[in-house]
Amino acid sequence: MFKFITLFALMNAALVSSSAVIRSPAAAAVANVGPVSDSANAITALTTCTQVNLKTCLVWSATTLPVGCTNLAANGQANDVKSVVTGSGVECTLFTSTTCTGSSQLINGTINDLSVVGFSNKANSFSCQSN
Ligand SMILES: *[C@@H]1O[C@H](CO)[C@@H](O)[C@H](O)[C@H]1NC(C)=O
Repeated sequence: MFKFITLFALMNAALVSSSAVIRSPAAAAVANVGPVSDSANAITALTTCTQVNLKTCLVWSATTLPVGCTNLAANGQANDVKSVVTGSGVECTLFTSTTCTGSSQLINGTINDLSVVGFSNKANSFSCQSN
């Protein structure tokens, strides 16, 4: 009987702690044609460019970190991102799929040519967090 009660108590504790960590998903970033960011969103999360050396870019901004999964393909950059730069204090992960799954590449700072890390023309989504 004691063992049964102990097990039940442990199971209950596990259920309580797992429900406590549920959070609403983070919001996606908003796109603006570079070099300016959306003034309503204080945080510049990531700049994604379809040419090397940060040329022909979208600037992605948000009101808070972390930034949830953001679809690049839906904003005209499907398999076309060649250079990126993260905002100050932000690191982002690029993904091959449009839903932040598949192969990924962590970005913290500037990458003028994603072919250097084998990720040119591969990104279709990203998420970001504080670095
Ligand atoms: C990201 O880059 C910043 C600025 O160079 C650095 O201070 C920080 O430690 C880096 N973060 C990681 C996780 O590498």
